[in-house]
Amino acid sequence: MKALVLAGGKGTRLRPLTHTAAKQLIPVANRPILFYVMDQVARLGIADVGVIISPETGLAIRDALAPNPWGCHFTFIPQAEPLGLAHAVKVAREFLGSDAFLMYLGDNLVGENLQGYVNEFEQKNPDAMILLKEVDNPRMFGVAEIDDGGRITRLIEKPDNPQSKLALVGIYLFSNEIHAAIDAISPSARGELEITDAIQQLVERGKTVQSSCLQSWWLDTGKKDDLLDANRLVLDEWVQHDFRGSVDSESRVVGRVVLEHGAQIIRSEVHGPAVIGKGSRIENARVGPYTSIGLDCSIISTSLENCVIMDGVCLEGIEKLKSSILGRHATVRRITEDKQVIRLMIGDDAEVCV
Ligand code: TTP
Repeated sequence: MKALVLAGGKGTRLRPLTHTAAKQLIPVANRPILFYVMDQVARLGIADVGVIISPETGLAIRDALAPNPWGCHFTFIPQAEPLGLAHAVKVAREFLGSDAFLMYLGDNLVGENLQGYVNEFEQKNPDAMILLKEVDNPRMFGVAEIDDGGRITRLIEKPDNPQSKLALVGIYLFSNEIHAAIDAISPSARGELEITDAIQQLVERGKTVQSSCLQSWWLDTGKKDDLLDANRLVLDEWVQHDFRGSVDSESRVVGRVVLEHGAQIIRSEVHGPAVIGKGSRIENARVGPYTSIGLDCSIISTSLENCVIMDGVCLEGIEKLKSSILGRHATVRRITEDKQVIRLMIGDDAEVCV
């Protein structure tokens, strides 16, 4: 089996961060989202991995994956324009050949090992197997209707009147039947070749499209709040206490905290779960739970929680920063006496005075 990881796209919902960076490389607990995807793929023992890249961010994706701790063989497949998930499969056709494959959206995270689902796919040998998860707001997702045997009977993209709460998780297992189905579909109203249309095409051709419901959490990190949720879940579930930095005698560190080499905590409080990257300086500050601070940040006289702070960020005099995402080398300074809670989403190199 091969894997196809989709790391192209536009990422419009995560602007301004995606003006200068690939959304799949946005860090969650100080690791790019894409690395968690690759962890999953490598855990399945899949060695041959195609990665869809865009002209804008392809190089950054290649560079990020270059150290390759997973030992996979990556084939980078350029997609000139983000013309849809099924279009991505189309441009990967030569790489995929006639093999079955796992398709994984490079900005999706799930909380469990996928081996059981892959085993089921290999044993039952359907034409496709789609992972589903019950959601409260099915209007926002691609939704599947299934029969008593778990076979998919109908798929609808963002239905106005959903008959099911089962959303398509961004993880799919396909046999080579998917290629003929993709050849038979046309672009949707938004101009994309939709994978839901291709799967619906399989259903209409009488192919076996099996579903399996994900047991764990699932997050599509394409929007700010989902990204913060992913940061929270990863810190909660996967981060172990690890202390390599320094903490002075006037500071207090409570709970599970990763303090990387050279990080300094001076006259401050840190409440885990949290990660503080190499070389960062936390001084006269309070770092609250569910916060990730990247490399070489300077957090002075500031109180923050539930934030993703990327490398090289400077924060000074910010009384209450909550639920914020700050791009690389952003600077936020206090120039007023206002002590209200601040929530920000700012891009790389932004300078903000509050
Ligand atoms: P989406 O989140 O559906 O699309 P997007 O990345 O363009 O984001 P937005 O809607 O905010 O503009 O994409 C899901 C994943 O698939 C994501 O990792 C990007 C990737 N993708 C491609 O590689 N090629 C494509 O043509 C599309 C649409 C997405």
